[in-house]
Amino acid sequence: MKKYILITGASSGIGLEMARILAQKKYDLILVARSEKKLLALKQELESSCGVEVHCIVADLSDEREVAKVYKTTEENDWIVSHLVNNAGVGLYGKFLELDALEELKMIDLNVRSLTLLCKLYGRSMASRNDGKILNVASLLSFLPFPYYSVYSATKAYVLALSETLDSELEENGVRVLALCPGPVDTGFTTEPMLKTRAYKTNKPASAVSVAHTGVEFLLKGKGVKVVGAGNRLLSFLPRITPSAIMKGIKKSLAQPQ
Ligand SMILES: NC(=O)c1ccc[n+]([C@@H]2O[C@H](COP(=O)([O-])OP(=O)(O)OC[C@H]3O[C@@H](n4cnc5c(N)ncnc54)[C@H](OP(=O)(O)O)[C@@H]3O)[C@@H](O)[C@H]2O)c1
Repeated sequence: MKKYILITGASSGIGLEMARILAQKKYDLILVARSEKKLLALKQELESSCGVEVHCIVADLSDEREVAKVYKTTEENDWIVSHLVNNAGVGLYGKFLELDALEELKMIDLNVRSLTLLCKLYGRSMASRNDGKILNVASLLSFLPFPYYSVYSATKAYVLALSETLDSELEENGVRVLALCPGPVDTGFTTEPMLKTRAYKTNKPASAVSVAHTGVEFLLKGKGVKVVGAGNRLLSFLPRITPSAIMKGIKKSLAQPQ
């Protein structure tokens, strides 16, 4: 049976660039997202330029039935997922009292619930083979929860906590669980209101390609938690050495809508 790397959120941004890099390294892939046209175009590009096998599964992962459908599809086709990249995610920015509650709950469904379910389903399969790797895409905000990204920050703190705890539990079953924590990245995730904030003016977004290179290297050879970029690593330590009242002021002035 053939082995594959499954990437969620592979239709754009970091996930798409990771797919390109992994295909160049001759890994066969399963790509998951909602945008069928984008996935099929990427499949064609990677199969013709890299000679790898690529399967696409169109799914809205904020719906747990579609998460189950993804797993069922891979099981029924005997596609072994050796590596799972839980990359699909959305980020809402704005005042908590003004953001749409249903949009926030949908973000929790995607960033938290679907990621948890995918870890459980593929974690069990990997454990049964005593072999596997899961890379969860968290964020710098996992360490540094920002106001105006309140629910998003909370989802990413969850992703980091889940990754660290699962890595401890599943190591004895041959499964490693990693967390990749990028700072700002230049993708469709970033909106105009975000770009106007001091946070983006002082910490310029990295390219999706450079973050994807770090992500692939980490997925194939790394373990534990990786904050992307030296500046972001320093920032992730700030809350440990700075009084919380000072941190609160810094974070508010960086993230406040302009
Ligand atoms: N960009 C940043 O500044 C930044 C920083 C730290 C962490 N991150 C994290 O990096 C990850 C990738 O984001 P990105 O920056 O590459 O953003 P992006 O370009 O917007 O990509 C997001 C991906 O997730 C997929 N997606 C969104 N909603 C989905 C749903 N309901 N079901 C299935 N797939 C869905 C999108 O595909 P479809 O629309 O086709 O479904 C797309 O492929 C996210 O987890 C994000 O939180 C981003």
